[in-house]
Amino acid sequence: MTAPHFTPRVFSGIQPSGGLTLGNYLGAIRRFVEMQDRGGFETIYCMVDLHAITVWQDPEALRKNTRELCAGFIAAGIDPEKSILFNQSQVPEHAQLGWIFNCVARMGWMARMTQWKDKAGKNSENASLGLFAYPALMAADILVYHATHVPVGEDQKQHLELTRDIAAKFNHDYGVDFFPLTEPVIEGAATRVMSLRDGSKKMSKSDPSDMSRINMTDDADAIAKKIRKAKTDPEPLPETAEGLADRPEARNLVNIYAALSDLTVEQAMAQVGGQQFGQFKPMLADLAVEKLAPISGEMARLMEAPDEIDAILARGAERARELASPILQRTYEIVGMVR
Ligand code: AMP
Ligand code: TRP
Repeated sequence: MTAPHFTPRVFSGIQPSGGLTLGNYLGAIRRFVEMQDRGGFETIYCMVDLHAITVWQDPEALRKNTRELCAGFIAAGIDPEKSILFNQSQVPEHAQLGWIFNCVARMGWMARMTQWKDKAGKNSENASLGLFAYPALMAADILVYHATHVPVGEDQKQHLELTRDIAAKFNHDYGVDFFPLTEPVIEGAATRVMSLRDGSKKMSKSDPSDMSRINMTDDADAIAKKIRKAKTDPEPLPETAEGLADRPEARNLVNIYAALSDLTVEQAMAQVGGQQFGQFKPMLADLAVEKLAPISGEMARLMEAPDEIDAILARGAERARELASPILQRTYEIVGMVR
């Protein structure tokens, strides 16, 4: 349990390493908006550009993707007054605390991370040192605000367990109760949106096939085409949610349908159970267009004023530093740095 003296505070981040996908939207951003609007939390959302460069990023593309991600957050309902919205490299406290955590985390912990194993692959000798240390920086992102809750998709669960391990080891080694043990918030029908071409792979901005994902910037025709061509099996949808168990592609489309219409999977199945894909897919495509088109339209509008986006990010960074700076200073004191 999180110690009661920590202010309820939400932190989450997304890498500006490419366009936003439907997976990012349903698994992360939509839930960021909910937590912002629910009240009872301070909410802090970050474009983690330092994480993005753990693999090669073209500088111009990184700049564009960072602004586009910011536009995506705002278009989806993040209010830069209610939430703190900024990019990581403008708040140096992240990298500073990240270094301390590099000295707390153990090589063995990092080597067990499945994302490291997937991304470094067989060629780990040639992966960047930053990619290996990635989860320690992620722990710093969260803990430099003493964040208590972190909404993410399913794929980040292991990193959040490591964040707790780092907080616990720091607290133990220095004999303090300084960092909270952060709670992951992994909820909803779409915590793991899968590729439209392969129900065993997650939908990802780095998949070479554009048909595998719905991008938040796709127009209505592209969305409809991708859903129409999504891989499925030949059977109609089952009558109940249990019937989806061994049918990853069907389950994925139903999960997307449920998440977009704010239903549980059971409620969604009460509506669409038994349908043929020829009936279900066009309905899903219409729903996706109805929900996503206003967001992509607003993103395009915001992208026409990059100076406004930059001003929002600069203001967000200022507010973030007000929270992060005293926590970093206190950490340095605990560690024994002369201040
Ligand atoms: P990333 O794009 O890897 O920086 O991910 C940003 C956020 O989106 C994280 O909270 C991820 O867990 C979430 N996310 C990314 N892809 C998916 C997906 N296919 N399904 C659900 N959540 C996802
Ligand atoms: N690792 C996350 C991802 O790839 C992004 C991230 C970086 C993050 N720092 C974070 C998410 C802190 C939540 C909290 O999706």
